[in-house]
Amino acid sequence: MKIIRTAHSMTAWSERLRREGVTIGFVPTMGALHDGHRSLIRAARLRCDALVVSIFVNPTQFSPTEDLSAYPRPIARDRALCCEEGVDVCFEPTDQTIYPEGFQTIITVPALANRWEGEARPHHFAGVATVVTKLFGIVRPHLAIFGQKDYQQAALIRQLVNDLNLGVTILARPTVRERDGLALSSRNVYLSAEERRIAPLLSRALRAGRQVIVGGVRDVAAVERIMQQTIKQAPTVYAEYLAVCDPDNLEPLPAVAARTVLLGAVRIGSIRLIDNLLVKIPGRKSALRVERGIKALTD
Ligand code: PAJ
Repeated sequence: MKIIRTAHSMTAWSERLRREGVTIGFVPTMGALHDGHRSLIRAARLRCDALVVSIFVNPTQFSPTEDLSAYPRPIARDRALCCEEGVDVCFEPTDQTIYPEGFQTIITVPALANRWEGEARPHHFAGVATVVTKLFGIVRPHLAIFGQKDYQQAALIRQLVNDLNLGVTILARPTVRERDGLALSSRNVYLSAEERRIAPLLSRALRAGRQVIVGGVRDVAAVERIMQQTIKQAPTVYAEYLAVCDPDNLEPLPAVAARTVLLGAVRIGSIRLIDNLLVKIPGRKSALRVERGIKALTD
């Protein structure tokens, strides 16, 4: 595995392969890699000839009160994981490479960035959109893979790639979880033993929401109430939002639709956790197909 640190060498490597007709897959990360990242890397490995993973703790997506300097940076372990998974290049730019003196451009995707995570973290998505656009410009991938874990981030990247015709195919992969439902996150290491014990309440709340939807409830307030009640089982967990949204534009839905995403963020002490769940209500046609199938089996 090659480790590349400069934009110039990274682009030269990619351009040479592109000329030879090699397809390049890309997984952008901030390091502290876990099995969630690993699943994205594997998905990219299966779909592309060459694979680049970037490790860059992007300062512009952290607010001054957030954990930039404390963000975990186990670089040797991260490289070992990349090597194990057959990554061809680990791109590890410095802050100076990404934001050289005189850097000015900021990419914003206002409607998608202002809600939910954007409300709690006002400059976060401009930082994400800008760095991902820059990384695409340097790495020049055919395909880039993101996690559904950060649902709003993946939606925003899709939007910006379409809006700006960046020519990168975007794929989102399902959230990898601990056995108790907690979504894997590089930030889970900050949880104390007691906080870790109650952290799965967020995924449990989302699952409770999904369950009532599948059971026939279409009233958004009722679904949100069920999710809130689940969170309230632990008085030390505070729900920032638990919402029933359109899965494409992330606007709150007036009533549960055939495709819905449940978005949630909670605070446990000083730690924020986010999670989400996609819910699809089987359409009339597929319900009929199932009914007919059952009838055929029982006739
Ligand atoms: P990071 O938090 O390191 O995440 C990198 C990628 O891994 C993201 O696409 C994220 O959604 C995905 N991911 C995280 N936890 C996951 C899980 N449990 N299951 C599946 N995928 C998971 O997201 C970022 O970095 C940054 O914002 C970045 C896009 C790199 C821009 O700086």
